[in-house]
Amino acid sequence: MKIISIALLVVLGCGLAVFAAAAPAQGQNGVVIVYASRYGSTAKTAEWIAEGMAGKATVVSAGEAGDLGGYEKIILGSGIYNDKLHVDMAAFLEKQGAEVQEKLIALFVVCGAPPDQAGPYLEMFAEKCQAKPLLARVFNGWMKKELLSPEDYKGLENYYKSVNQPFENYDSTEKAKCFEFGKEILAVLGEMK
Ligand SMILES: Cc1cc2nc3c(=O)[nH]c(=O)nc-3n(C[C@H](O)[C@H](O)[C@H](O)COP(=O)(O)O)c2cc1C
Repeated sequence: MKIISIALLVVLGCGLAVFAAAAPAQGQNGVVIVYASRYGSTAKTAEWIAEGMAGKATVVSAGEAGDLGGYEKIILGSGIYNDKLHVDMAAFLEKQGAEVQEKLIALFVVCGAPPDQAGPYLEMFAEKCQAKPLLARVFNGWMKKELLSPEDYKGLENYYKSVNQPFENYDSTEKAKCFEFGKEILAVLGEMK
């Protein structure tokens, strides 16, 4: 009987340890990064920001965000397409705007325009959130022609022709800059405690 009880305790203990290891960061600090990305660079940026936060944030796409009731703070990031937010981010804000207003701490956009000219995208994003984030940042992403939908390909081809610039692949992502932003967010969170 005693041996069975000990064995049961060991099994239970192991189960709990596995559960704790697999549990999302949610229980630790309750921060979630919700991103919307068409071609991956915004998703990568979100991942790098989370890395800068020492993994203390859960990263989810806006399309799959679901119930965020378990999170205390929200960070939002969207790619920019024809001067607009990703449709999934717009839909997310439409649905969960009240929660965003209450919990938003940081915003970021990922775009092709140079960061010093992309301020209006952040302003537009904050306006749509109806909230003022403590931190906001512009990042550059990538353009990989092989990933583009036929519609986007055509649209961008026409755009680059109209501005007399070559339509070429680029990767202007900067992991270190994303990492730094993550660290800044952690510092702000620390000050709020
Ligand atoms: C169809 C399309 C439209 C775009 N329009 C803009 C734009 O209006 N302004 C801008 O700065 N960048 C624009 N870009 C560049 C994207 O914002 C940039 O490639 C960004 O890294 C995309 O993020 P993603 O890889 O997460 O989709 C556009 C890209 C595409 C594909």
